[in-house]
Amino acid sequence: MTTPTFDREAYVLSVPGDEDAGIIHRARRLRRTPAIRRMVRETVLTADDFICPLFVVHGKSVRREIGAMPGQCHLSVDELVRDCEDVARLGIPAVILFGLPVSKDPVGLENFAPDGIVQRAIRAIKGAVRELTVITDVCLCEYTDHGHCGIVEGDQILNDPTLDILARVAVSHAEAGADIVAPSGMVDGMVEAIRDALDTSDFPDVAILSYAAKYASHFYGPFREAADSPPRFGDRLGCQMDPANAREALREMTQDVEEGADILMVKPALPYLDIVRAARDAFDLPIAAYNVSGEYAMIKAAAARGWLDERGCALESLVAIKRAGADMILTYWARDAARWLAEG
Ligand code: PBG
Repeated sequence: MTTPTFDREAYVLSVPGDEDAGIIHRARRLRRTPAIRRMVRETVLTADDFICPLFVVHGKSVRREIGAMPGQCHLSVDELVRDCEDVARLGIPAVILFGLPVSKDPVGLENFAPDGIVQRAIRAIKGAVRELTVITDVCLCEYTDHGHCGIVEGDQILNDPTLDILARVAVSHAEAGADIVAPSGMVDGMVEAIRDALDTSDFPDVAILSYAAKYASHFYGPFREAADSPPRFGDRLGCQMDPANAREALREMTQDVEEGADILMVKPALPYLDIVRAARDAFDLPIAAYNVSGEYAMIKAAAARGWLDERGCALESLVAIKRAGADMILTYWARDAARWLAEG
């Protein structure tokens, strides 16, 4: 390969041996018009790419905005159904539900109660908007009084006793009509335990979206307010991954594939695009990425001060996540982004 040189005086780029060649390649030719830019665009975002997270609470006619997540609300089941109708109308294929129970206890009993908040929400959505895919978060932290994602003894989070609870939660979501269950606690063996339980309970068609590579991230801050799920003591470093590790993410994902996961998730998304790309290259399962609450809150807060353009930054974030290899993106912008894309 010959190295071109740039003559500062004459403003000419030339290749040694071919001094008259001028500029070798004018990349701007393909950026000249909107139509050409559309023709050469490698990644196209559509409403099909999004999964819309929703927070469901007890009560009636409740629509309460969440402090650190402007535009996101705690919704009672009646209001939730209206939002789901909107989600479906916008062409978004799926929602993921997070529930806030009436009360919390060491095990999180409402988590697998037939009339628990999420179970009721699933039935209501399936009764009103059949075509919408309902995904449920399967974890303990929103339901337990200690706020950890497992059964606790002293200051230890017990792995194997937690598997039993997760399996019961997943089956109860399936009984209510969930299409996909998404275990998020990073408990070892959770995918296998849930797969076994679903199969033996006659739900072989319910899929598992595993939060396979979930990092111990500070970007979950606003969500923990939304889901009222911060750990009451300690942290999640014993369960979730060290942000410094990449190879370990592939080991986690390999294990989840072997245990029967149908979809693998990387979370958060933007600070971990290298992991999304590595996952895409290493596995042939669909890859999901979670554009988490902190990623949303940062842009919202800056936009509120006039420092960033929300629409531009949100769409740029989402296309970057897709370009990195995500087939589906969980994002609080799902509805706004679908509207923005429809506007063109
Ligand atoms: C755990 C769970 C968390 C999120 C989704 N599921 C929080 C945590 O691990 O503490 C975070 C999502 C977000 O920040 O948007 N059930």
